[in-house]
Amino acid sequence: MTMKPLIAANWKMHGNMSWRNKPAEFNEILPTAERRHLDVLICPPAVLLAPLADKRGGTDVWLGAQTCHDQVSGAHTGEMSADMLSDAGAEYVILGHSERRAAGETDADVRARVEAAVKAELIPIICVGESLEQREAGQAEGVVEKQLAGSLPDDLTDYVIAYEPVWAIGTGKTATPGDIKSMHAFIRSRVWPTTRILYGGSVKPANAQEILATENVNGALIGGAGLEMESLAEIAKAA
Ligand code: G3P
Repeated sequence: MTMKPLIAANWKMHGNMSWRNKPAEFNEILPTAERRHLDVLICPPAVLLAPLADKRGGTDVWLGAQTCHDQVSGAHTGEMSADMLSDAGAEYVILGHSERRAAGETDADVRARVEAAVKAELIPIICVGESLEQREAGQAEGVVEKQLAGSLPDDLTDYVIAYEPVWAIGTGKTATPGDIKSMHAFIRSRVWPTTRILYGGSVKPANAQEILATENVNGALIGGAGLEMESLAEIAKAA
C-alpha cells in the first residue's frame, strides 16, 4: 500500500528563538508545491512551539512536541499537558522515545501519555526499538512486540510508529536494509495497514534513499540531520 511518507525532525534539546524561521527556510529550499506527496514535521523543544507556529505562515510544515504529560492539568511542576502543547501549535507528539525510556519511562507511562495525546487531538508518534544487547541476544522482535503491546491503547486508530533501534541513534550506525525490512514487516503485522511506520537512527542524506525505499518504511524520524534545513530537505527529496 502506498501512503504519504512522513519526514519528521526531532530537534531534541537543540535550538533557540532564532530557529523560529526554520520552517520558512525549509519551504524556500523545498517549496510545498514540490512536496505534495509527503508530510514534513518539525518537533522542536516545547518552548519553541509557539514561536515556530507564529512564524510558520503558509509553509505547510507540521509541528510536534517531544512528549506530553498524561494529565490535563494539576500540580505537576515542570510538566506540560497535551492540551497545552496543542494550544501552542503542536499537531503531533513523539512519545516513548528511547532517551525517555532510558530515563525511566515505562510502557504503561507511554500508554497513558498516548491516551492524553489523543484526547487533545494530537497524533502520537510512538517510538519502539531494541538495544544492541537485546538484538545480539536475538530478542529484537520480542522487545518491540512487548513495547507495542504495552504502549498502544486498544482502541487507537490514528497514530504513527517510529522504529528506532537504540544502538543506531546518534551513533552513525544504521540497521541493515534487511534488518529494517524484517522489523518493519513485523511491526506492520501488529498495526493497521494505514499506520505509518517510520525508521529512525542516523538517517542522513547519504542513506535516506535506500532506507526510504524499503518496504513498509513510510518515513523517517531524524535527529542530528534534522537540525539543518538543507539536510532535512535532502532527506525529504529522497522520500
Ligand atoms: O528521534 C530521532 C533520533 O533518535 C535519531 O537520532 O541523530 O540518530 O538521527 P539521530
